[in-house]
Order: sequence, then C-alpha cells, then structure tokens
Amino acid sequence: MQYTFREKTVIVTGASSGIGKVLALRLADEGAWLALAARNAQRLDALARECQQSGSKVIAIPTDVADESQCRALIQRTQETYGRIDTLVNNAGIDVVCKLEDLPDLQLFKQVVDVNFYGTVHCTYYALPYLKETSGRIVNISSLGRILAIPFNTSYVASKFAMIGFSDSLRMEVEQVGVSVTVICPSLVVTEFHERYLDKNGQPKGPSGRAIYTEHTMTADQCAQIVLRAARRRKRQIVMRPGSLALWLKLIAPGLVDRLTISRFLRPAVKRTLDDMHR
Ligand SMILES: NC(=O)c1ccc[n+]([C@@H]2O[C@H](COP(=O)([O-])OP(=O)(O)OC[C@H]3O[C@@H](n4cnc5c(N)ncnc54)[C@H](OP(=O)(O)O)[C@@H]3O)[C@@H](O)[C@H]2O)c1
Repeated sequence: MQYTFREKTVIVTGASSGIGKVLALRLADEGAWLALAARNAQRLDALARECQQSGSKVIAIPTDVADESQCRALIQRTQETYGRIDTLVNNAGIDVVCKLEDLPDLQLFKQVVDVNFYGTVHCTYYALPYLKETSGRIVNISSLGRILAIPFNTSYVASKFAMIGFSDSLRMEVEQVGVSVTVICPSLVVTEFHERYLDKNGQPKGPSGRAIYTEHTMTADQCAQIVLRAARRRKRQIVMRPGSLALWLKLIAPGLVDRLTISRFLRPAVKRTLDDMHR
C-alpha cells in the first residue's frame, strides 16, 4: 500500500513560496501535520491558514535557515508541538548570478552556501535524533545545476554539489536505523526563484528573471508531485530531464557537456532574456 503523510509530521523549509509552498498545500490535503519555515512570517501565516482549511494541523515558524540557532528552535518547536518528526524537507534556497570575479567580495557567495548548504546541515543535524525515532525521511532539494554545472552560478552550483556529498555520506550513516535520504535535482521550475536571482550587489533581478522559461518549463505543482512521490518511496535520487542523460554523457565527454550546456541552455536563455528586455 502507498505510504501516506496523513498524521505524519513534516517540516518544509522555504515554504513561503514556489515548490515549498505547493508541497505544503499538497501535504495539507493529505492530512499531514506541518511545520512551515521561511523568513517571511506574513506569507507563512497566510499559507498556514490556507493549509488549515484542509483540516491539517499547521504551525508557521519564521526561520532563517542560515542561522543555526533558529534551525535548532524550528526543530525543537516542531517536536514539542507534535511529539514526533517524520519528514524533513530541506528546500530553502537562493542564487547569486554573476561571474565570480565580478563579486565585490565573498559575502554573497558565503550567503548562498550558508542558506543552501548549511541550512540543510543545520536542520538535518537537529532533526536527526527525532527522525531516528520514527524511521523518518530526509528530502534535500538540490538542483540539476549539481549535474549540469552552469557558469555565472559558482556559489549556487557549489552549494548544490555539497548537498549531494552530504546526502550520500549521511545516507550510509542512517540507513541502518531506517532513515532515508532522498535528493531531488529539479530542472527549471516556474517559481519566484528566478526573479529573486541576486546580482553581484545583492539586488534581485525582478520579473525579467523569468524570461529564461520556455513553454516546457515545469510548474511548481508538477515538481512537488515528483518530490512527494520520491519521498514516499524513499528514492535515493531523482534527476529531472535532461539530467539523467547528461549524467552519463558527462562521464565520457565532460567537455562536450560543458559546450552543450552553453549552446543549448545558456545562450538561448540569455537570448530570451535580452529579447524580453527589448520588448
Ligand atoms: N525554480 C527552479 O527552477 C529550481 C530549479 C532547481 C532547484 N531549485 C531549488 O528548489 C528550491 C525551492 O526554490 P523555488 O524554486 O521554490 O524558489 P522560491 O519560490 O524563490 O522559494 C525559495 C524559498 O526559500 C526561502 N528562503 C530563502 N532564503 C531563506 C533563508 N535564509 N531561510 C529560510 N528560507 C529561505 C524563501 O522564503 P523567504 O524569502 O520567506 O525566506 C522561499 O520560501 C531551492 O532550493 C532551489 O535551489 C529550484
């Protein structure tokens, strides 16, 4: 029988928008007990009210995942409220898009690693004792960028690679006690992510960030369904298209994959962005 999240406690970081928000809504429909985390308290409260309409139990816990003590408090409050933690979804993420050499200093670079990678480490570390009690699930949202590294994203790609190494190592430590570690590598998904892209000065790109989308770009709901299916089945890793093919090709011809990434993805994306700006 298919695993259900009904009356299971699920923590979702980065729940205030995009993939995290849709995950929360779908989990609420299924009757999960939710702990929603992100920095924007107003959005979290609005989402919590929406989830409660499905009859689900929900707490909204404003959290900056880059801050270890806030992550510890998130986990403690969730455990105190529900008495158990079954699933942790490490989904919070940000990106800075520019050449490494154009950054005025390394503050933004470190911020991306702090949110994407250390945010995952902080929450996982404090949740692990409770996840062991429930033979729980850890779900880490990495990126296709972990396979098809893209230029102008050094901090993001590095943070997402680090998530994989962390997850692969941890999986071997915890599988004996029944805890699973699933890594999801989405391709492009329509969310607020691309308008929030930070430039070298830490300013969000705005709506033009969405110009990289094509008619094939996945919706947040499609992505959330894939995440939940993988979590239910305790899958090791899900690589969304065209990642699986690239994974194999990279083993035999890494230089070709770099060139294809630029010619098939980056150049068309830059062109769409420029066309959008001139419209
Ligand atoms: N969209 C894509 O194409 C795509 C592709 C591959 C992977 N991903 C990954 O998917 C995940 C979700 O992204 P999304 O596409 O849904 O983007 P999104 O709509 O921008 O959502 C990102 C979420 O992360 C939260 N967040 C950012 N910084 C945070 C911090 N310091 N502490 C806590 N929460 C923080 C944001 O909330 P607050 O601002 O309220 O804190 C927001 O809820 C990310 O890890 C991203 O790397 C996305």
